Amino acid sequence: MKIVMATNNQNKLREAREIFSPLGIEILSQKEAGVSVNPEENGTTFAENALIKARAVYELIHLPVIADDSGLCVDALNGAPGVYSARYAPEGLLCEALLENMKEIPAEQRTARFVTDVAFIDESGKETVLEGDCPGVIGFEKRGTNGFGYDPVFMYGEKSFAELEPEQKNAVSHRGAAFRKLYDYLKNYQQEET
Ligand code: IMP
Repeated sequence: MKIVMATNNQNKLREAREIFSPLGIEILSQKEAGVSVNPEENGTTFAENALIKARAVYELIHLPVIADDSGLCVDALNGAPGVYSARYAPEGLLCEALLENMKEIPAEQRTARFVTDVAFIDESGKETVLEGDCPGVIGFEKRGTNGFGYDPVFMYGEKSFAELEPEQKNAVSHRGAAFRKLYDYLKNYQQEET
């Protein structure tokens, strides 16, 4: 089975290929599938945004499609930045903005979680959305140089996500969790198809 991933982000493609190749599933980027879409992500939930991205590609090619949408939800900020995670501050200043907005919040109230929703649309147009998350705590300063986005301030145990190697992060991350749920779903889906 071939699945088109509604992204050209090489990191997401690599992670999806690692997870889905044992099922004999080939993951194509939208570029490889010959489509170029960039829909407005104007949903109010991760699920809505993942579906917006998946539908935009599916409508053009009618092949199986997956799309994911992620963000950081901080309890003391009532779930912000949430679906606005990418737009919370100018690129490169996300961590600084979050640390500034949380400077009065004590250690025990700095709990947070990363969330990923992954949408799958099969060839017939049937839609499925699955969610993965990863709990952590927002630190008081940036730590580490790996990763991207909020990784330097997201503490997973003793280390920030930016201090983990990519494989260590994938093993526990929200995106990894959502992709592994999709793996289980697709495994059953393929069995039903045969
Ligand atoms: P996307 O939907 O995967 O593009 O994620 C939206 C935004 O959430 C990104 O621009 C990042 O700011 C943030 N984000 C999502 N996943 C991660 C992660 O694993 N580490 C750090 N930031 C993330």
